[in-house]
Amino acid sequence: MTGLGQARARSRYVCQECGCESVRWLGRCPECGSWNSLVEERLPPIRPGAGPGAATGGSVAQPLPLASVPALAGDRRGTGLADLDRVLGGGLVTGSLVLLGGDPGIGKSTLLLQVARHLAEAGERVLYVAGEESASQVKLRADRLGAIPESLFVLPETDLEAVLAAAERLAPALLVVDSIHTMVAPGLEGPPGSVAQVREGAAALMRLAKSRGLTTFLVGHINKEGALAGPKVLEHVVDVVLYLEGDRHHAFRLLRGVKNRFGPTSEVGVFAMGEAGLAPVPNPSELFLAERTAGVAGSVVVAGLEGSRPLLVEVQALLAGPVYGTPRRTATGVDHNRLALLLAVLERRAGLRLGNQDAYVKVAGGLRLDEPAADLGVVLALASAYRDRPVDPRTVVMGEVGLGGEVRAVARAEARLAEAARLGFRRCLLPERNRRALQGAGGVLELVGVGTVAEAVEAALTRC
Ligand code: TYD
Ligand code: MG
Repeated sequence: MTGLGQARARSRYVCQECGCESVRWLGRCPECGSWNSLVEERLPPIRPGAGPGAATGGSVAQPLPLASVPALAGDRRGTGLADLDRVLGGGLVTGSLVLLGGDPGIGKSTLLLQVARHLAEAGERVLYVAGEESASQVKLRADRLGAIPESLFVLPETDLEAVLAAAERLAPALLVVDSIHTMVAPGLEGPPGSVAQVREGAAALMRLAKSRGLTTFLVGHINKEGALAGPKVLEHVVDVVLYLEGDRHHAFRLLRGVKNRFGPTSEVGVFAMGEAGLAPVPNPSELFLAERTAGVAGSVVVAGLEGSRPLLVEVQALLAGPVYGTPRRTATGVDHNRLALLLAVLERRAGLRLGNQDAYVKVAGGLRLDEPAADLGVVLALASAYRDRPVDPRTVVMGEVGLGGEVRAVARAEARLAEAARLGFRRCLLPERNRRALQGAGGVLELVGVGTVAEAVEAALTRC
């Protein structure tokens, strides 16, 4: 315990997982429940007479009439990648701070180097701060992407103050900090990536971005659970949070916005990682259906939606049995609990005896299907595998499945149908409610409305 000296050294204990603060050390974080995650941070001693006014150096901020504040919205610029612009809400807003998270090796540095090159090609100065790699490693990557413009600068540095000073001196139009988890503020305790360091780094870069109108990208690491590592404050401080996702063994990558102060978060960008970086995928459905072998039992095409974009994806199911003991249930790209629920619905509501079968479900291409509208596709893939009868390869499926075996309506059925028609599908199994609402407006598609899982199984497996 500290004594009662004048300038008492103060401490606080900060959870390295969620940023929760406590005045005492605790074995378990009261906020997020993680064990052994509280780390001591020493605070500067309180100087007598230092009040809240002293922190701002005596200057008092003046209120402004809101009507006189200049609008930001028009001040956007393209990044050279149309999908990234769309996810950002129509390009990069000048002076904004954008955080890009994603698994290691997924392509974060590649994506930002592409943006950096694009702006530099247009004659803007760009500063790329490499905290994780040497200048020559960045050069190696940049060489793969094409000729390197002259106004693209690299700074291999992890010292936050050196980074801020370099950015002030160079006055670039774009600053990329790769990554915020490697930045160290001198004079601050804690290793790089700790809550104190990340918080201070993000706050300092935010001040720079706002005071200089400097558009800034921060790369962030993500933890085992797939959330951005470190404090939640990081996400609160920045203007935009983007995630780059995908399966490292597949070429495609999805870019999602989870927070955006300047636009919607429903948009999704689709890219393919190739020899020269990330390239846009104009027809993602074609990519996901490219390797489909038509006429195989257990394969169903789902008319899904990623953000506001319709996307056709193949769901595959395989059953093996009978097995003795507890059967295996393995789901790739579909939530495990959702699979268990859908198997139970099939068993009880459609009379399929699946209780003694190992069940494997996989979404082709490494995509994740999280929306409920994919339920019917999973159910029919399982039913098709069970009966060992293929579903007609030119049929697409959409619908949410309830515990009563009912098939519930899905959002934006028309957009999904249009995508299916564009790719040459002929028939669509959809919730009866959606069919009625569409009043037969399926165009070239034959619309088959189904009210229950049992009806859907019959409609999908009898006619082919
Ligand atoms: P990288 O951008 O370093 O990922 P992150 O910054 O998210 O850790 O991407 C690394 C992977 O991308 C690596 O496996 C190599 C691959 N890659 C390509 O396939 N094509 C390319 O043109 C580039 C630059 C990288
Ligand atoms: Mg990287």
